[in-house]
Amino acid sequence: MCGIVGAVSTRNIIPVLLEGLKRLEYRGYDSCGVAVLNGGLQRARSVARVSELESQIAQSGLEGSTGISHTRWATHGAPVTFNAHPHFSPDQSGVNRIALVHNGIIENYEEIRTELKALGYVFESQTDTEVVAHLVNHLYDGDLFGTVQRSVKRLTGAYAIAVFCKDEPHRVVGARFGCPLIVGIGTNENFLASDAMALSGSTDQILYLEEGDVVDLQRNAVRITDKNDQPVERVIHTVSAYAGDIDLGPYRHYMQKEIFEQPRAITDTLEGVQGFVPELFGTSAGAVFKDIDAIQILACGTSLYSGMTARYWLESLTGLPTQVEIASEYRYRTPAVNPNALIVVISQSGETADTLAALKYAKELGHRHSLAICNVGTSAMVRETELSYLTRAGTEIGVASTKAFTTQLTALFLLTLTLAKMRGRLSDEQEHAHLKNLRHLPTAIQSVLALEPQIIAWADAFARKENALFLGRGMHYPIALEGALKLKEISYIHAEAYPAGELKHGPLALVTEEMPVVTVAPNDSLIEKLKSNMQEVRARGGQLYVFADADSHISSSEGLHVIRLPEHYGLLSPILHVIPLQLLAYHTALARGTDVDKPRNLAKSVTVE
Ligand code: G6P
Repeated sequence: MCGIVGAVSTRNIIPVLLEGLKRLEYRGYDSCGVAVLNGGLQRARSVARVSELESQIAQSGLEGSTGISHTRWATHGAPVTFNAHPHFSPDQSGVNRIALVHNGIIENYEEIRTELKALGYVFESQTDTEVVAHLVNHLYDGDLFGTVQRSVKRLTGAYAIAVFCKDEPHRVVGARFGCPLIVGIGTNENFLASDAMALSGSTDQILYLEEGDVVDLQRNAVRITDKNDQPVERVIHTVSAYAGDIDLGPYRHYMQKEIFEQPRAITDTLEGVQGFVPELFGTSAGAVFKDIDAIQILACGTSLYSGMTARYWLESLTGLPTQVEIASEYRYRTPAVNPNALIVVISQSGETADTLAALKYAKELGHRHSLAICNVGTSAMVRETELSYLTRAGTEIGVASTKAFTTQLTALFLLTLTLAKMRGRLSDEQEHAHLKNLRHLPTAIQSVLALEPQIIAWADAFARKENALFLGRGMHYPIALEGALKLKEISYIHAEAYPAGELKHGPLALVTEEMPVVTVAPNDSLIEKLKSNMQEVRARGGQLYVFADADSHISSSEGLHVIRLPEHYGLLSPILHVIPLQLLAYHTALARGTDVDKPRNLAKSVTVE
């Protein structure tokens, strides 16, 4: 999704801006641009990659010590150069005065545009962002900081903006409401960005702006005011370097690297876990967990599927009624509220706009307790929940989520067992057995990763298909959903998942010899039922591709292709079964030649609704 990098320095800031954009590329974008002050406002924009923008800049010799840059993921207006940021607004003599970049969506942009058009402002783009550039210009009174404070009061919606003005050459002003924006502190230079990772080459001293903050960035000073325009101090954090996450090592894509990092990611996520104690989730978790009688999970995308899987664990092991809902649906309906239900938000980024809004809404509805399962400790979601568990997947760069999913499942399993223990439903013996299984999980995953060559052979057949069905039952139904999501996201093959028992109520009509049907077949109590569903597919000529546990007695035959997972892993089986589905999607996409890490139209962190 959109990314912002800005800087004020004594040196040419172009390399910092471009490096920052490259570090944000993984979030997904369709155009990019840079503007600097060098006498007047100058900019370069591109609808290709940041590397193309870099060549353009190298040829034009663009440089300056104050600047802003942006990667855009189109919302208002197509991904074409004239819509790419930065946007300019000229003074009365026609000389460009204001340069601005923006993440988020301005909901009342049409109203402001009509007003500004009537005043004579000419719009060169279809974006909501250009409205803000003209608005700041219109209200400008010689003090950019005060002007931005006044301008943002006119805006409704969500935004992070960075702006500079030709008349105040050593200043960049930023504002945050609903979209992340951080400040990086340097020596004789300071930075702004939408994500700390963008600045990892320049500084590790980061402060996180809060909702309604406006920041005045100068070379040797940073001044912040809060939503009431009162001066505030925000704490400076030292953030760890992300260099290892950016390095691809021996892998062709970040997605492949991240799939193979899963044993490490789960080991790290379990670090320090000696037993199932509430303190794992925060100091007040003991009291909170005693005070709840239900669970409401809210999330989007892959994170939603980890919640759907966990529901099977939570209800069966803790007895707590558990609901799972898509955050973007929940936030706009009127649910029957049980204030004692613990709100659990699940998110890789901790920035997803719909999940954040659902959390806020749940609190407004009267829910008293909230917990975040999140991969980014400094994210808004972690800051806005009472309790949290940090997955330690490391930075996930591939748009298609992999290691974040399996570490979320690991964290949710810990939550389940902690609640089960507190509710007297877990004996010491069971606790010991679960701990042992969790500790062995990274090794079990290694054995599943070793199936890659067999999966590559299947991927060649899948690459020629345009449709696929995925089947699962029980806690492996969400795994089928996740497998279908992975395939459609990166290979663009239309894939749908069904609980296998539902096949006969509709999707069976789609089954022909052309239809591959991927079946998640763990050797659990539903295996015989699943075998019957597989027969239904075979009887219609469908091609079955089955991931079966070693001991499930399913063998390859005409139209029935089987890959065996080394062992059945009981309650943790979903974590093992998702891995071959990730690999199948990855190798199918590779065979089709798609842009695996940056699939078309998608973004990594969806910070707009
Ligand atoms: C986007 C990403 C998905 C992710 C979803 C939720 O759609 O492409 O991979 O599952 O957002 O993101 P979150 O950061 O909240 O887990």
